[in-house]
Amino acid sequence: MNTDATQQEQPGGPAVGWWTEAVIYQIYPRSFADSDGDGMGDLPGITARLGHLAELGVDAVWLSPFYPSPQADAGYDVADYRDVDPLFGKLSDADALIAEAHAKGLRVIVDLVPNHTSSAHRWFRAALVAGPGSPERARYVFRDGLGPDGDQPPNDWQSVFGGPAWTRVTEPDGRPGQWYLHLFDTGQPDLNWDNPEVREEFLDVLRFWLDRGVDGFRVDVAHGLVKQADLANWQEPQEILSGNDVDKPRPPMWDQDGVHEVYREWRRLLDTYPGERVLVAEAWVEPAERLARYVRPDEMHQAFNFEYLLAAWTAPAQYAVVTRSLEATDAVDAPTTWVLSNHDVVRHASRLGLTTGGGRLNGIGIGDPQPDAGVGLRRARAASLLMLALPGSAYLYQGEELGLPEHTTLPDEARQDPTWARSGHTQRGRDGCRVPIPWEADAPSYGFGPTDASWLPQPPSWAEYALDRQRDVPGSTYEMYRAGLRLRREHGLARGPLAWLSTGDEVLAFRNGGLTVLTNFGAAAVPAPTGELVCSSAPLDEDGRVPTDVTVWVRG
Ligand code: NOJ
Repeated sequence: MNTDATQQEQPGGPAVGWWTEAVIYQIYPRSFADSDGDGMGDLPGITARLGHLAELGVDAVWLSPFYPSPQADAGYDVADYRDVDPLFGKLSDADALIAEAHAKGLRVIVDLVPNHTSSAHRWFRAALVAGPGSPERARYVFRDGLGPDGDQPPNDWQSVFGGPAWTRVTEPDGRPGQWYLHLFDTGQPDLNWDNPEVREEFLDVLRFWLDRGVDGFRVDVAHGLVKQADLANWQEPQEILSGNDVDKPRPPMWDQDGVHEVYREWRRLLDTYPGERVLVAEAWVEPAERLARYVRPDEMHQAFNFEYLLAAWTAPAQYAVVTRSLEATDAVDAPTTWVLSNHDVVRHASRLGLTTGGGRLNGIGIGDPQPDAGVGLRRARAASLLMLALPGSAYLYQGEELGLPEHTTLPDEARQDPTWARSGHTQRGRDGCRVPIPWEADAPSYGFGPTDASWLPQPPSWAEYALDRQRDVPGSTYEMYRAGLRLRREHGLARGPLAWLSTGDEVLAFRNGGLTVLTNFGAAAVPAPTGELVCSSAPLDEDGRVPTDVTVWVRG
């Protein structure tokens, strides 16, 4: 792949460019590969393992944050946007990673966290010292409290992680003072995006990484930057999603129209750089029509399709979400994206093994109903093969190519996600999908690093998922992903168009790129399409039929 491709988006026409067809692999740096044996993944570890991703056949990597951070939210609390945390290495390690990825034909997308900084950021520290009414405080959302003593928060907003979204500070004179807004952890104060200084700063941060050669940015909480000016109360429970109804009033903290001007400005900057740099929105916005506004021709290039991730494992639900997603993005001439797992949700190999089968679940722990591992993996493989046959771009989360399940029995005392404490130990949170991944069945920490150390304990059952137990093993999940990715490219599946053949209650089937793709969601086996079977998520039965929870790709 030529990383300096110069194809440009056509004004007014459908988007063209590498990202429209790309499979992008999410690396969670804490848990991918540890080069120095301290139990924490790092950038040199990633660089040393990039060959795996080239062999797998993906086009790009997206790295979750590796910037200096107190790690109050696993690095999504950034103290310095222009450096690397010593936990993960040095700035020169980031440069080396980018260079090596490019040499291997892989693009590199980094995470940008613009909704909030860390409370350890120099700006926030200066705001605490400078006091009420100062320009330093105007970079954040500081307000006086309610009540005679100002001891009540300025409004009733709740943090996404649980508890109030406001924390009171102690003023420089030692008295209790103003409150600051944090939609997430107390260590993540929200920035004030009405302040031109904030806008300038992030343009400069974008330039910093663009100049270092990154191919794009995954934009954290892209729907949250701008708040409704009056910070009106919102009695509803806090949810990252905005609801299903296009006309339903939106929460005052999410999906405000003002966010789009920010992304238009960023897009203008990216377009001055050569080589098709991209912006990807992490926006928990429903329905698909509202999400599509983030990928209008002069805004971002892609947005994660969380509606797809949340869809139930039934033929009608999958058909509805696929058609709705394609229609919504077609309307703005953007490529559709697909995603089944990431570092914030229960891995799909476990999620689909629960009787609920879909929706958002905030972690699974000891004492919770446990997924059926066999059913989960079978459905996960069928879901992944269905996803990889859809037109558009797909996102994979590290370990899903191994069929890795959630760690659903992680001891609660090992948990690090702030959700667990902030929810009063009612929501287990996201640690179970963040456990360091297995590379070698018989090595310490399954080859994650040179020692046994692992910042979250790995389950004893993970040897069987290790890469070295699956590579070159016919029928393994890893070889299924490799074959699927190769065939996807050979048949131009990302380009579509998709033509439905069957949209019943039990079977979905469509044509794309000269293949017939069929998924059987029903209880009974169904006849396979005629032609040459080129890929399947599980073997056909003895009569050559497609069993329950299996996807097949047939040429002819
Ligand atoms: C979304 C990120 O994916 C998540 O991990 C993080 O906790 C929140 N944004 C806050 O930055």
